Amino acid sequence: MVSRYAETYARWQRDPEAFWAAAAQEIDWVEPPAKIFDPAAGACGRWFPDATCNTCWNALDRHVAKGRAAQPGLIYDSPVTGTKQTLTYAELLDEVRTFAAVLTDFGVGKGDRIIIYMPMIPEAAVAMLACARIGAIHSVVFGGFAAREIAARIDDAQPRLLLTASCGIEPGRIVAYKPLVDEALVLCRAKPQACILFQRAQAEAALVPGRDHDWATLTAKARAQGRKTDCVAVRATDPLYIIYTSGTTGKPKGIVRDNGGHLVALEWTMHNLYGIEPGEVFWAASDIGWVVGHSYIVYGPLIHGATGLMYEGKPVGTPDAGAFWRVIDEHKVAALFCAPTAFRAVKRADPEAKLLAGYDVSAMRTLFLAGERADPDTIQWAERILKVPVIDHWWQTETGWCIVGNPAGLGLLPVKYGSPSVPMPGYDLHVVDEGGKPAPTASMGSIVLKLPLPPGSLPTLWNADDRMRESYLVEFPGYYKTADAGYRDADGYVYVMGRTDDIINVAGHRLSTGAMEEVLASHPDVAECAVVGVKDALKGEAPCGFIVLKSGVNRTTGEVEKEVVELVRHKIGPVASFKLAITVDRLPKTRSGKILRGTMKKIADRESWTLPATVDDPAIFDEITAAVRAKGL
Ligand code: COA
Ligand code: AMP
Repeated sequence: MVSRYAETYARWQRDPEAFWAAAAQEIDWVEPPAKIFDPAAGACGRWFPDATCNTCWNALDRHVAKGRAAQPGLIYDSPVTGTKQTLTYAELLDEVRTFAAVLTDFGVGKGDRIIIYMPMIPEAAVAMLACARIGAIHSVVFGGFAAREIAARIDDAQPRLLLTASCGIEPGRIVAYKPLVDEALVLCRAKPQACILFQRAQAEAALVPGRDHDWATLTAKARAQGRKTDCVAVRATDPLYIIYTSGTTGKPKGIVRDNGGHLVALEWTMHNLYGIEPGEVFWAASDIGWVVGHSYIVYGPLIHGATGLMYEGKPVGTPDAGAFWRVIDEHKVAALFCAPTAFRAVKRADPEAKLLAGYDVSAMRTLFLAGERADPDTIQWAERILKVPVIDHWWQTETGWCIVGNPAGLGLLPVKYGSPSVPMPGYDLHVVDEGGKPAPTASMGSIVLKLPLPPGSLPTLWNADDRMRESYLVEFPGYYKTADAGYRDADGYVYVMGRTDDIINVAGHRLSTGAMEEVLASHPDVAECAVVGVKDALKGEAPCGFIVLKSGVNRTTGEVEKEVVELVRHKIGPVASFKLAITVDRLPKTRSGKILRGTMKKIADRESWTLPATVDDPAIFDEITAAVRAKGL
């Protein structure tokens, strides 16, 4: 099939408002948009400013009304508990309406925030959709974060309720959530009025009388009373959710997602980018705590009338490297979307993909990769074993959907290894030098997006318009700074090479080295520190912390290193994968005192490096080299 990409992108370029007005017709509106875009509103304009809608209606009710009641809406497959469950659209709607009634019993209404700290169980999706139904704003916190991170999100979002479960399950380990929640509720200043907890059989939690409520009891009561809550109309510009993501400091950024733009954009991607038809199964092997989970486990498939898949397991070890093939076979997955690291894990465990032989994966048409740079080796391996197109695409929590990709629905363009391909309609992408001037073809520069951003992308940060401007809009006036660096080739293919800030990508998880440095610096024996992301064969990158001890510290370096590793695990969480701390006598700095992290990373990665002209004392690099080699890097 000849790709319709060029024609579609040109149509968007000619008249962006007409393009998105047409896309908006796929959505049920309470009050359809008369105005498509208001450039004067907010920090960088607002989409569909006069429309009203409800996201839950578009995800559930309208499909039930139009004949999808008996179709699976959400499949739950949990090898860690040995459970599988399929919820039809009608069943999911029933659960959501009932749980929405429970929320309203606590006085929750339009605009109230709800924190959801839950594992990958259907109740988490029910909670998200129930919030959407009544106009409450959910903020899901990834289960691998520790108490301090939960508390930071509570303080910023100021939620009325906290929804949680008794535990998450990692291979070989039950992660009790309740102690983390209890600690977070002590640490935070903005105490939620109550906590609703879903008890899992693997580890029941004790409830604090008066504050904690049992999910199942409340739901059973609402169901027995036949209580069902209908959709509330919200403005298209009202927030659907806040998702916190790593910023350049320890304080996470609250990315705001609006209702209307998000509906329109996700619906457009399901068909045009992912090539999915209503009724098909789309599997995003991510977690609801990440943006990919929001967009493509829960909202995208449902808005489109497709079937979402929630997988509580890993690519390997649950029970083996054939886990993905089993899920694709059993649920007839039409497209899988995961991080390259998941495939690296499978490839490492089963290099010849012998386990694939036992399964029929012929339902799968396309594999999509995102979340970190997809290395050509991994793409080619996946192509070879699966014999389907393997499509890299690049996006960010901020955008909520793909910036640069290869649209399967419009017809795939030729794949160029190392490039996620071309900008999607909505994104006017430029590569610029430090002064904001266009970089020549094939030259590295900062990737920026000309404003306005398309529907679905962040309109602002929660309660922080100024931070929004400072973080994204000030450096390149008229453009959104992606903080990714890369280049474009003569065919217009974009290559995304790495971040320009302190963000690293560890196993597809976005983490701030600055936040880790704050934790290391809080150790009483640490005088100075620097954290860099070093190459990791499985996770892409892994954090490596350099510490300088205070003079007079009378303990072994091993002891302190062990403690700082523990401290990061306790303060940020296991997801940081912070396992390597290296004590050095001093850190390399410029004469003006700036730590030369980039050079330290190159040394650790055994890449070639040149002596920075402004370095304080070149001998320090020999010390760093010796220290990292001693640790096996
Ligand atoms: N709750 C609690 N702990 C969690 C967790 C959760 N939801 N998710 C991860 N963790 C823990 C892990 O158990 C691990 O703990 P450990 O240090 O005690 O071993 C730690 O956080 C680091 O997790 P991770 O980096 O994911 O490594 P892993 O060894 O558990 O798994 C992979 C490695 C590659 C299999 C896994 O990272 C993976 O599947 N990645 C895909 C990433 C992804 O989906 N990204 C979303 C963007 S598309
Ligand atoms: P997140 O906000 O967690 O989705 O992480 C976004 C960041 O991950 C981007 O800014 C990139 O640095 C990186 N990233 C995501 N997808 C890709 C990709 N396909 N290629 C290269 N980097 C990617």
